[in-house]
Amino acid sequence: MILVTGATGSIGTPLVRALLSRGAPVKAMVRDQEKGRALGCATVVGDFDDPASLVPAMEGVDRLFLNAGGAQPADGAQPMIRQQKAAIDAARAAGVSRVVKVSVWHARRGGRLAEGAHWEIEEYLKASGPAWTMLQPSGFMQNFLTGAGAFTVGGRLVDAYGGAPVSYVDCDDIAACAAALLTGPHGLGETYVLTGPQALTYAEIAREISAVLGRTVGQVQLPPDELAAALREKGVPARFADDVAELSRQVATGSLAATTTAVRDLTGRSPRTFGEFLAANAEALRSSLFSTVS
Ligand SMILES: NC(=O)c1ccc[n+]([C@@H]2O[C@H](COP(=O)([O-])OP(=O)(O)OC[C@H]3O[C@@H](n4cnc5c(N)ncnc54)[C@H](OP(=O)(O)O)[C@@H]3O)[C@@H](O)[C@H]2O)c1
Repeated sequence: MILVTGATGSIGTPLVRALLSRGAPVKAMVRDQEKGRALGCATVVGDFDDPASLVPAMEGVDRLFLNAGGAQPADGAQPMIRQQKAAIDAARAAGVSRVVKVSVWHARRGGRLAEGAHWEIEEYLKASGPAWTMLQPSGFMQNFLTGAGAFTVGGRLVDAYGGAPVSYVDCDDIAACAAALLTGPHGLGETYVLTGPQALTYAEIAREISAVLGRTVGQVQLPPDELAAALREKGVPARFADDVAELSRQVATGSLAATTTAVRDLTGRSPRTFGEFLAANAEALRSSLFSTVS
């Protein structure tokens, strides 16, 4: 039995679909049973913040997909560390043999925001017993639907990366990689950096979004410090805003610009282009709410 956590999220939902289409035995861990019903598979109620709920969730589970959205920390502490360590403990106690974990590209000791948090969880998982595989994605194309990490000023997309490109990856492709790993023997002890097929600048992204929406969506360069100041003014905790600025400075050096062959290697097909992603999500894009910073 495969347990999918974060099952109602951007990766978990297509992963459940992919596993069902392969005929794999799958159970989704959800916080809200009603929300989980739409997944069309067995569900179990579980919450990373309630370790006792993870015990029944892991019952009969052989393989675990470990993922969840990171809540915005008020004080810089990442709840994800405590939450995912609890899930790893429960998996080990239940005799889970394999864990496929969603991490982040450049996860490293001392990294800002998710980069440092995922590094700590990766290290914990590596020392915990079950076989592991780490998925380290580049930025998600879905950020342009959810607004996570995609900001606007006066309706224009904010480029805090100084024109540097990012090799955004579609969460459907991350899910396809996870499905291949969870149903096959390969990838034990491996870390895969997952990217899309090309790296795009904000100017190119704005052009592609404009073409799909049939109206011009502009973009504006905002230096990282100014983005941080705008976020603070919106009530975002200062430390979080500063970390966003620091990450933006790193991306501006081209840290997310490379592309890898991992999606093709794991799934046997090319990753989706940004244009293909937009075409498949045109309706959602029309109603997407970017985080407006001024
Ligand atoms: N966004 C990016 O560009 C990017 C890039 C690289 C890596 N990542 C990493 O990818 C991961 C997923 O990020 P995402 O924001 O896209 O999230 P997501 O996959 O959409 O995940 C949200 C899911 O987590 C579940 N969840 C949240 N809190 C939970 C809790 N306490 N217990 C159980 N389930 C919980 C949510 O359930 P409900 O439906 O109940 O809310 C939902 O199913 C994060 O670890 C992030 O660091 C993100």
